[in-house]
Amino acid sequence: MAPAQNRIEISYNGKTVALPLIEGTEAEAAIDIRNLRQQTGLITFDPGYANTGACKSAITFIDGEQGILRYRGYPIEDLAEKSTFLEVAWLLIHGELPSRPELESFSGEITRHTLLHENFARFFSALPKDAHPMPVCAAAVAAMATFYQEPESDDTIHKTVIRLLAKMPTIAAYSYKHYIGQPFIYPRNDLDYCSNFVRMMFATPCEEYEIDPLYAKTLDLLLILHADHEQNCSTSTVRMVGSSQANLFASISSGISALWGPLHGGANQKVIEMLEWIAQNDGNADRFVARAKDKNDTTRLMGFGHRVYKSYDPRATILKKYCEQILAKVPAGSPSAKLFDIARKLEEIALSDEYFVKRKLYPNVDFYSGVIYKAMGIPTNMFTVMFALGRMPGWVAQWLESRRDPDFKIGRPRQIYVGATKR
Ligand code: CMC
Repeated sequence: MAPAQNRIEISYNGKTVALPLIEGTEAEAAIDIRNLRQQTGLITFDPGYANTGACKSAITFIDGEQGILRYRGYPIEDLAEKSTFLEVAWLLIHGELPSRPELESFSGEITRHTLLHENFARFFSALPKDAHPMPVCAAAVAAMATFYQEPESDDTIHKTVIRLLAKMPTIAAYSYKHYIGQPFIYPRNDLDYCSNFVRMMFATPCEEYEIDPLYAKTLDLLLILHADHEQNCSTSTVRMVGSSQANLFASISSGISALWGPLHGGANQKVIEMLEWIAQNDGNADRFVARAKDKNDTTRLMGFGHRVYKSYDPRATILKKYCEQILAKVPAGSPSAKLFDIARKLEEIALSDEYFVKRKLYPNVDFYSGVIYKAMGIPTNMFTVMFALGRMPGWVAQWLESRRDPDFKIGRPRQIYVGATKR
């Protein structure tokens, strides 16, 4: 039990109860309300859970005021510069950076599990030709539970995690090949994670595809930057679904669906659509910003604002730098270069506009990621799939942590009923 000074008192209906305070390792404090209803009959009301800590977690730390993001204590800037995606995946899942033999064994296992069962490959052909790749990926990950039905245990979970991380690039590439009506390209074991994915996307049986090493490095970096972001909408969904003891495939499929929404991962597609719209409508960024500020207009400046960051998203800072490098490779005046110019202009206007300054709205990770994907030739409807590919280790780590949590409980919020009384 917490000491007396670590309690907060609330009085209600003539009764005073003391609620313990909890403190995290970065001095974040919370009121432990687990016994609130039992002691007072009250529940809390917090739409969007903006003030609710749903769990204790040792995976990712964010300080939204100072723009800090760390995975397992390591600053995102250091991981972006020095690590690879698979190394970060191991870090998130296991809590420590891998030793060299651990990383080699992990990479080797992933490489050897990239193939999909041939029946599974045919699953895609049942879906409409113009199916958006995000629901296709969500359905395919859910369908993995039908191919791997062994009960989950400490022994089998490792294999399940490997299968997910290994097959997700294949599923993602197949969802795109299905969309454009090209034959599937099998994975190749001599390629690294990102090069293999891009080859499965762009090679055809008639023509090989050689990936530019800068593009492979940038894609790997993008996956690192998206790998985890604590209790966001999709991660909370994965935890919520997992809390019913649904299996990992089902939980992650739900996370992919949650990520698809335009206020979450779907924002990266919406950003590029916004930039293209501005480019096609006289390129006037000021006019678009005015619409985003107008309360009678539902338009938002996509890629701006964040529930947690009230300063520049550190991932956006890193991406802007890479954007400049990638854009240096495309011809001046090309569509991608024009979109980057508009993005910079939008940022400049918004960062000096009182509306955005007052509400602490800054570019988030999605603001520049789409411009990079576009310049690398990744199709717009695959942007959110790229986010899902990156977020996979984070979802896995969070799901595993919640399963091992001594406070583990099925997720089940309360409500304030405001409907008709008995009639
Ligand atoms: N453009 C214009 N106004 C905005 C924007 C925006 N992008 N974002 C927030 N606002 C305004 C909002 O209208 C509100 O104004 P007021 O106080 O006058 O009512 C105020 O800022 C606070 O907004 P909110 O919607 O209450 O904030 P939230 O924390 O609930 O929402 C958000 C966060 C990310 C959903 C929101 O900022 C947004 O819709 N941004 C655009 C979509 C986007 O880029 N999403 C990607 C998020 S980062 C990737 C990820 O983690 O998924």
